[in-house]
Amino acid sequence: MDHPAFKTMGQQAGRRSWAEPWKIKMVEPIHVTSREEREQAVVEAGFNTFLLRSEDVYIDLLTDSGTSAMSDRQWAGIMLGDEAYAGSRNFYHLEEAVQAVYGYKHVVPTHQGRGAEHLISQALIKPGQFVPGNMYFTTTRLHQELAGGTFVDVIIDEAHAPANLHPFKGDVDLDKLETLFKEKGAENVSYVSLAGTVNMAGGQPVSMANVKALRALCDRYGVHVYLDATRMYENCFFIQQREEGYAEKSVAQILEEFCSYTDGAWMSAKKDNLVNIGGWLAVNDYDLFDQLRNMVVIYEGLHTYGGMAGRDMEALAIGIAEGVQDDQVRARVGQVLYLGDLLLDWDIPIVQPVGGHGIFLDAKGFYPHIPQDQFPAQTLAAELYLDSGVRGMERGIVSAGRDPQTGDHRYPALELTRLAIPRRVYTQAHMDVVAESIRAVYEAREQTRGLRMVYEPKYLRFFQARFERA
Ligand code: F0G
Repeated sequence: MDHPAFKTMGQQAGRRSWAEPWKIKMVEPIHVTSREEREQAVVEAGFNTFLLRSEDVYIDLLTDSGTSAMSDRQWAGIMLGDEAYAGSRNFYHLEEAVQAVYGYKHVVPTHQGRGAEHLISQALIKPGQFVPGNMYFTTTRLHQELAGGTFVDVIIDEAHAPANLHPFKGDVDLDKLETLFKEKGAENVSYVSLAGTVNMAGGQPVSMANVKALRALCDRYGVHVYLDATRMYENCFFIQQREEGYAEKSVAQILEEFCSYTDGAWMSAKKDNLVNIGGWLAVNDYDLFDQLRNMVVIYEGLHTYGGMAGRDMEALAIGIAEGVQDDQVRARVGQVLYLGDLLLDWDIPIVQPVGGHGIFLDAKGFYPHIPQDQFPAQTLAAELYLDSGVRGMERGIVSAGRDPQTGDHRYPALELTRLAIPRRVYTQAHMDVVAESIRAVYEAREQTRGLRMVYEPKYLRFFQARFERA
């Protein structure tokens, strides 16, 4: 697979390397533990990487959420926090930044993405309705279910095949969606829940052509489209690199066009927006905004802070503008592709094309001898930690949870271990260490045994479940 993004950076034709558009001003020491220490730590953590102490981790690829390094300008913004309970000037900066970059009219701040998901799900979903989307995300779907909705996956089939090289594996299958409208009645569909990029599919993008066609279809049926904009900067970078007619457009221009086909968005600002905490909701419809602005005071905080401190909102306003710059997104995705290319060169099974925010190891490809109900991806995350102290996360059967109707495990086609790369945090040398550890774990794959679950919490079990060796 050749990565168009890399080609433009000159990695393939001769060696003209790209580098990050920043230098490092402050460092945070990390340390390597011994194999014995990690063996003890992983048992204490019940083989769940969420339950490890971060001090026991060497390179932390658990998530790219809230783990970004902020810039000197963002840290300066922290000192400009206006901590007034109401009407903080930082809120107005945030509001202006969202309006300017994403183009929506009305903005409601929330403490993080799931706070926004809670509000929009409660506002828009009537019990018994369907919520179609391009693959589920854990917290998104749970909030939709808690509001009485049933999520329906309408992503294209290619998204479920790890080695399929479709350039826009996040696309909605419009036939599947139209069939749902016809079979269930469009009045029984709350809205289309669109995400770019698609986290659970491996950080895969949605094309502009697809969102445009989606808008037209939804207009015919009178259904709204709301966007999970969490990693839209990365999505727009892929459009720039892969979709005809966008090579000369900036990520910011592409984003504006993409958002114009949707009615609003919710955001986990802890990703693209380069902050450690924060989120927002933005919609064009005034009446919906009025409802959301009223609800936010119940669950998050006043509508001019929504659970964030003034200083957080200032850092966020600056991060919104910084993160959307082409050179920032290119360096961010470029680092992910660098790691992906190393693994592909060694024939290690990963989701392809490599996505925007991390590498997704195909655990079924690593461990064909471990049945899915012995948690191959959970096992792989534990093995990687044991080998080198690199921490990833399960994105397979544990994350998929149980079917609320039958109580059985859901068996997703994708059984993945995700290594999400924090933005502006690790160097190319860290990526080399990660790749070499993955290779060592892959080489030992035939001796590896699965796990059994010994503790299972009711909601979002992957965060707190505990395991033992099977
Ligand atoms: N939507 C997407 C696509 C996400 O990836 C996340 C979080 C959320 C919504 C929820 O946002 O965490 O701010 O409440 N994803 C994190 C991850 C947890 O590691 O992928 P949140």
